[in-house]
Amino acid sequence: MNGESGGGYREAWRRSISSPEDFWLTAAAGIDWITPPTMALDPNGPATGSWFPGGRLNTSYNALDRHVLAGRGAYTALIYDSAMTGTRIKLSYLELLGRVARFAGVLRANGVGIGDRVIIYLPMIPEAVIAMLACARIGAVHSVVFGGFAATELAVRIDDARPSVIVTASGGLEPGRTVQYLPLVAKAIALSQGSVHTVIVRDRESVPGSAADYRGRNETDAVWLDWADEEATAAPADPVALRSEDPLYVLYTSGTTGQPKGIIRDNGGHAVALNWSMRNIYDVGPGDVYWAASDVGWVVGHSYIVYAPLLAGATTVIYEGKPIGTPDAGAFWRVVDDYQVKVLFTAPTAIRAIRRVDPDLLELKNHDVSSLTSLFLAGERLDPETFHWANNGLHCPVVDHWWQTETGWAICANLLGIEELPTKPGSATVPVPGFDIVILDSTGKPIEKIGKDGNIAIRLPLPPGTLRGVWGSEERFASSYLSVFPGYYATGDSGHFDSDGYLFVMGRTDDVINVAGHRLSTGSLEEVLTLHPAVAECAVLGVHDALKGQRAAGFVTLKVGTSIDHSTLTAELVALVREHIGPVAAFRDVTILDRLPKTRSGKILRKTIRQIVDGEEYSVPPTIEDPTVLDDLKRALSASV
Ligand code: COA
Ligand code: AMP
Repeated sequence: MNGESGGGYREAWRRSISSPEDFWLTAAAGIDWITPPTMALDPNGPATGSWFPGGRLNTSYNALDRHVLAGRGAYTALIYDSAMTGTRIKLSYLELLGRVARFAGVLRANGVGIGDRVIIYLPMIPEAVIAMLACARIGAVHSVVFGGFAATELAVRIDDARPSVIVTASGGLEPGRTVQYLPLVAKAIALSQGSVHTVIVRDRESVPGSAADYRGRNETDAVWLDWADEEATAAPADPVALRSEDPLYVLYTSGTTGQPKGIIRDNGGHAVALNWSMRNIYDVGPGDVYWAASDVGWVVGHSYIVYAPLLAGATTVIYEGKPIGTPDAGAFWRVVDDYQVKVLFTAPTAIRAIRRVDPDLLELKNHDVSSLTSLFLAGERLDPETFHWANNGLHCPVVDHWWQTETGWAICANLLGIEELPTKPGSATVPVPGFDIVILDSTGKPIEKIGKDGNIAIRLPLPPGTLRGVWGSEERFASSYLSVFPGYYATGDSGHFDSDGYLFVMGRTDDVINVAGHRLSTGSLEEVLTLHPAVAECAVLGVHDALKGQRAAGFVTLKVGTSIDHSTLTAELVALVREHIGPVAAFRDVTILDRLPKTRSGKILRKTIRQIVDGEEYSVPPTIEDPTVLDDLKRALSASV
C-alpha cells in the first residue's frame, strides 16, 4: 500500500477536512500541470467548491503523453475484448496516444475548438475512449450518451448541449440482436433544433450502416463522414492548455423530472481526485490491470473505464459483452484470467446475474483468478446476501462503495490503498477523504441519534472531482442540490451512520430509481405512459426485483368509455417506453386500476403502493381519500400474478 501514509484512514480523513489546502495541493502534485496551482480551493469560487484556481493543464496529456514521455509508451493502455465478436485488441500508451492525437485533429479540422460540445454515441469499442480523450485534448466538452437510449432521449440531450458534431458508429451488439445507431442518430438530429453540422461514423463490420448511406439524404442537413477515412488523413493535434475549472465533459443523468440534468465536470479537480482515488481507494498504479465492467455511457465508465486508470498509468479493459450468456456465467472470470486483472469493478446486479445462473460458482474453477485482489461494487445497494456469496466465493475483499453521477467518484468506500477496514455487509463503509457527511432530518437539522435514518447530505464545499454545476442552468443546480439544505449538498439518498462511523445507504428520497444499476426517472416514464390515448392517470414506481434490484412498475387508470384489454395495453405501453426512452428502461409491468390510491388532497400514495407490491408491512395513511382503493389494488395485483 502506497496511499496516504501515516495514521491510517481516520487520520487521512481528518486531514482532508481540517487542512484541505494542504491535503489537496499534495494530491495535485500527482498531476502534470502546465501552470501548477498555488492554492487548492478558490476563495472566490462558488460555495460548492472550485478547485486549483490559476492551474492550467490538459487531461488527455495527463492520461497519455506524460506516461509516454516517462518511458512507459510500450505499456498496455487499453485492452479491448469483445465477447460479442471475439475481437481482442491491445493498444500501448504510444499507440493510443497516436490515435487520440489524430482523432483530435479530425475534430479540429471539422471546426471543433475549446468549449464546443461533441456528443459521443458509441458502443463499447476503443473508439469511445479515443473520442473522449480527443475532445479533452483540444478542450472540447464531450457528452457521451448511452447506446440503450432511444432517439428522443438523444434529441433531448442534443437540444440541451447543442453539439456541433456527433461521433457515432454503425451500431452496437446486444445478445441476439444488433442495435443500428445510424437511424436513431438521423431521427434524433431531425427531431432536434439544428446545432449538429457533422456526424462522424465508425463503421463496424458486424453492424450494417455507414456514413455513405446518409450522405445527401434530406432528413438532416449534417455532413456524414467516415471515421477511418478521416483518421487516415488527419494531422495530429497537440494538447491545449486549459484552466482547471474549464469543463471536461457534461454527462446527463435522470432527475425527478423528464428533463435529464447535464452534470458538468471540470478538468483540474477531476484529474487530481481520480488520480488520487486509484492509489488510495483501489490500490492500483502503473502496470496494474483495472477493469470496470460498466459502459462508457455511465459515470462509472467515464471515471473508471476511461480517465482514472489512464491518469494512473494503469491498463484499462473495455469489455463488450454481458456477465452471463456471452457465452456463459464464466465470462467475467475468463477476462480476469486472460488479462491478469487486479481490480474488478461492476454493479451488484451483474453479480446477482452470475449467481442466478451459476450458484455454486462452478465456472470459476475453469479459470485462474488469483490476480484479482478486490471486487468493487457500486451503482445500487449491495444486498448482504449477494455480498456474502461473492465474498465467500472469490476469496478477495468485496467492497461496496457508494457514489453518484454528480460526485464522479466514491463518497463512501473501504479505502484499500490506505487501510483495509473490517467490512459490514449492507454498509458502503466510511466517508472518503474530502466528503464530510451529515444525516439531516426533513427540516435540515442534524440527526444525532446513531442508527436513525435521515437525509444524507454533504457539507460544502465538496471535494475536487465532483460536479461544477448543471449545464445551462444555475437555477436547476441550486434548486436540485443546494437550496434543499442550505450549506449542504443534498444527495437524494437516505441512510444512517452506525456507532463505528459506517454509513448505510438505504435508498432514494426522490423519484429516481435504479434498474440494473441504470438510473431512471419515474417522472419521465410517467410522461411517456400518459402519451397513450387510453391512459387517464398513471404512477410509475420502483419495485423490488430479485435480479435488477429494482424495476419500474406502472399503475394506470383508463379514460372513461375506453375499452382495451390488459395485454394489448401492456404491449403498447412497453413499445411506447422503448420508443421514447429506450430498451434500457426494461419496462414490462402494467397494472390497470379503477382509481389510484390518493390522499384527500390528491397526492398519489406511492410509498404505500410500493409497500403493497413488495409485500412489506404498511399502515394505511390517515390522509387517504378512500381506503378501499387499497383492496382494489391488492386484487388487481393478485389477478396479474
Ligand atoms: N445498447 C442498446 N440496448 C441496450 C444496451 C446498449 N448499450 N444495454 C442494454 N440494452 C438493452 C438490453 O439489450 C435489453 O433489451 P431487451 O429488453 O430487448 O432484452 C434492455 O436494454 C435491458 O437491459 P438490461 O437491464 O441491461 O438487462 P439485460 O437482461 O440485458 O441484462 C444484466 C441484465 C444484469 C446482465 C445487465 O443489466 C448487466 O450486466 N448489468 C451490469 C450493470 C452495469 O453495467 N451497470 C452500470 C453502472 S455500474
Ligand atoms: P448513478 O448516478 O447512476 O451512479 O446513481 C446514483 C445512485 O445510485 C445513488 O444516489 C444511490 O441511490 C445509488 N447507489 C450507488 N451506489 C450505491 C451503493 N453502493 N449503495 C447504495 N446505493 C447506491
